[in-house]
Amino acid sequence: MSQAKQPLNIAHRGASGEAPENTLAAFKLGLEQGCGAYELDVHLSKDGQIVVIHDATIDRTTDGTGAVNEMTVEELKAFDAGSWFSETYTGERLPLLEEVFAITPGHIIINIEIKGSYNGQLEPVLVELLRKTNRVDTVVISSFDWKSLQLIKELDPQIKVGLLYNLRLQHHEKLAEAAGTDIFSLHPNGAKLDPEDIQRAQAANLEVYVWTVNTEEQMALALKSGADGIITDYPGRLQALIARN
Ligand code: G3P
Ligand code: MG
Repeated sequence: MSQAKQPLNIAHRGASGEAPENTLAAFKLGLEQGCGAYELDVHLSKDGQIVVIHDATIDRTTDGTGAVNEMTVEELKAFDAGSWFSETYTGERLPLLEEVFAITPGHIIINIEIKGSYNGQLEPVLVELLRKTNRVDTVVISSFDWKSLQLIKELDPQIKVGLLYNLRLQHHEKLAEAAGTDIFSLHPNGAKLDPEDIQRAQAANLEVYVWTVNTEEQMALALKSGADGIITDYPGRLQALIARN
């Protein structure tokens, strides 16, 4: 198989197939395995800080229970975010977004998925953090909540935003028009699009990042299709496949 351009290898919640999702351990493992980017999910704590976690509650991915937004960072940090996955990771904590930035080389792209806008309270905190940490140019903000993306663009037009969706369509590029703001990338479900759909989107100057592509077979198809980014729980597996191409 030949490939003109290598896609961005995006570690989904870090290397979450082999380490507890959305922890520093998962992001470090992704880096070791050669990813070029991570995807991660964010919520807002009770005391207004951005916490990296997929669900609105800590029930599934820690040894505690309760809503992220009803606990302070100090309270959230008391829970173990690794042992549910494997004993090896006992002691992992829910990271703040700022802590992920601190362990991440500047050339690594971070795809921040906003999971909860909290009535527009999260976006200004996020934009301020990106400016303070000099991360404005090396992140892509995505969300299923497109109004949240619009708010990000109003706060800072320089920040790149990407539309997340789960549809089977022919004209994905038309979604960018419907979003009502300047869109950098489309983030479709990889199982729901064809190579021609990708080409049409790319012709409209949109990057296409597909999720979540985990088997070698799916990865080979995604590589062949010309996607600009492949979001995977197994960045090591994807890197090996890219190297063989
Ligand atoms: O950003 C792609 C993917 O992460 C969207 O779904 O549920 O894994 O956050 P989810
Ligand atoms: Mg996500």
